[in-house]
Amino acid sequence: MNERAPLDAELVRAAIRARVSGHAAPVVVHATTGSTNDDARALAREGAAHGTLVLAEQQTRGRGRSGNPWFSPPGENLYASLLLTPQSITPATAAFSLVVGLCVAQVVERACAGRVRAQVKWPNDVLVADRKIAGVLIEGSASARGASLVVGVGLNVGTRAFPPELGGVATSIAEELGFASDRNPLAADLAVVILEAWPAFEAAGLAPHAEELARRDALRGRRVRVDEVSGVAAGIEPDGRLLIEGEGGVTTRVVAGHVELLAPLTAGPA
Ligand code: BTN
Repeated sequence: MNERAPLDAELVRAAIRARVSGHAAPVVVHATTGSTNDDARALAREGAAHGTLVLAEQQTRGRGRSGNPWFSPPGENLYASLLLTPQSITPATAAFSLVVGLCVAQVVERACAGRVRAQVKWPNDVLVADRKIAGVLIEGSASARGASLVVGVGLNVGTRAFPPELGGVATSIAEELGFASDRNPLAADLAVVILEAWPAFEAAGLAPHAEELARRDALRGRRVRVDEVSGVAAGIEPDGRLLIEGEGGVTTRVVAGHVELLAPLTAGPA
């Protein structure tokens, strides 16, 4: 295990091929790029194969949801975009980001030999000890060549000093374990679990993942606010909507938004 090893396309590709029979798609590694999601989309327009994986040592325009920048310093973390080529993309496809969150949580726990517990924060964050270790950005598009879905994952592996705005909010494998994992096997493991999860999701949506989703749900039972809706998070619907039970017993099903965790209710004076 070499925590300082550079990303190596051949190593990653061989590790994926060893686990996914018939896998022939390429792995592309950039020293520096704007955004691996943009690279994967460009490859999709050129007809790249299902399972093509784009990795970068550094991103200069890494992006998260809602146009937020994604912290992407060189040589430390995993910036990965996996290209899937579905039959079609529908509004239901968005819920795949929750499945990818579960995949990332499994990969993180394996890399940490079970010494950390990873949870999913609806709709696209992976948390360890309530701090964000990874984010998922899924982008679909259609061209004359057909539909494509780019699954972007930013996983904090080696960063030990985050910029002030991420202090206390973000964490990494190195912060949790005391040392970073080798990113090559990590990238391969991530690609394999996502590739394996996709056909089941295409066939049956979130249903096969309901139990694991409930077990890893970082929000369940906690006071939250999404835009103007606040209440207690009460789980995730089979279609991916977040359930929020409001004070008056009114349940709201939230399709999209940023979840703010509110302080827990404390008992008032007697
Ligand atoms: C989020 O939490 O808001 C999602 C973050 C997704 C970041 C990854 S890094 C690899 C890929 N390329 C990007 O520009 N974004 C995704």
